Amino acid sequence: AVIFESTERVTMTEAELYTLYKGIYLPSALHPPESLRFYEDFTFRPDDILIATYPKSGTTWMQEIVPLIMSGGDPASVETLPNWDRVPWLEENRAYTLNLDQRPSPRTFSTHYKYDMLPRSFFETKPKVIYVMRNPKDVFTSAFHYFGTTSFLVKPGPQSEFLHKFLDGQVMFGSWFDHVKSWLNAEEKDRIMYISYEELFMDLKDSVARIAKFLEKPLEAEAVEKIADRCLFKNMKQNNMSNYSLVPAEYMDQTKSEFLRKGIAGDWKNQLTEAEAERFDAVYKEKMKDVTYKFVWD
Ligand code: A3P
Repeated sequence: AVIFESTERVTMTEAELYTLYKGIYLPSALHPPESLRFYEDFTFRPDDILIATYPKSGTTWMQEIVPLIMSGGDPASVETLPNWDRVPWLEENRAYTLNLDQRPSPRTFSTHYKYDMLPRSFFETKPKVIYVMRNPKDVFTSAFHYFGTTSFLVKPGPQSEFLHKFLDGQVMFGSWFDHVKSWLNAEEKDRIMYISYEELFMDLKDSVARIAKFLEKPLEAEAVEKIADRCLFKNMKQNNMSNYSLVPAEYMDQTKSEFLRKGIAGDWKNQLTEAEAERFDAVYKEKMKDVTYKFVWD
C-alpha cells in the first residue's frame, strides 16, 4: 500500500503557475490575459507618476513614500488604502477594476515591467518615472524568502537551485540584469529618477527630499521629517495597509516569512555561501560589463 507521508500539495512548476509574456515569466494568477491587454491599451497622462521596480527592490516602500509626498504628509491614503489600490500595479488583475481613468491627477502607479515592455502610450506621453534599484544579492535573498510564502509563485526549492534560476532569469519578471539594463538605457532620462534601496536605507530624509524635488512638490523640512519617520521599516511594519496582513494566508503565508522581513542592506552576507557569492559576482561582472552607471553597492 502507498503511504502518503504528507498532505502537502505536490510542488507546482513554472509551466503550471506562470505565463510566458514577451519572453518573461509572470504569475498567471495575478496577470490573466485581460490584465495584460488592459495595460497594453492603457492611456497615460503626462502628469502620471510611475514607480518602476524589479520585484523585491523596494516597491512597497516607494508606494508609501510617494503618496505621502504628494499629499504633503497627510497620511489619509496610506492609512485607508492598501498599497495595491493606493499605487496599483498596471499589469495586475486589480488594475482594470479600479476605474483608474476616473482618478484625479496626478495619479501614481506601479509596474514591474522592463522598460521595453511598456505600452505605446507610455512612450508617447512620457510620464515621470521613479526607478528603484537594489543590490541584486539582496534582491535574491529577499526573493528566496518571499517566493516560499505565496501560492502563486513557484517555490524556491534549495538555495543553489533558486540561485541558478535567479541568475538565469527563470523567475517572475525575468532577469534582474535585463530589467536594470533596460531602464538604465531608457531614452527619457530627464523624466526618470534613478534611486536605490541602499540610498533610502542610508538617508531616508534626504531621499524623501530628493524625490519631492523630482516630483516638483515643495515640502517644508518638518513634512519631510514626518514622512521619513512614517516610512521607517518599524513603522511601516505596523501599517496594516502596507504590511500585506490583509492578504489571506492561503495566498501569502507570512508565518513562513514576513513580507516586511528584515528591511536592511547587505543581508545577502547572511544568506549566500562564499562560493555562491563568487558565482554571483562572476555572472554580475559578465552581464553588467557594458554598464557605466555607478551603483551604490559596487
Ligand atoms: P527584505 O525581504 O530584504 O526585508 P518589494 O516591496 O519591492 O517587494 O520589496 C520588499 C523588500 O523591501 C523587503 O526586503 C522589505 O522588507 C523591504 N522594505 C519594505 N519597506 C521597507 C522599509 N520601510 N524600510 C526598509 N525596507 C523595506
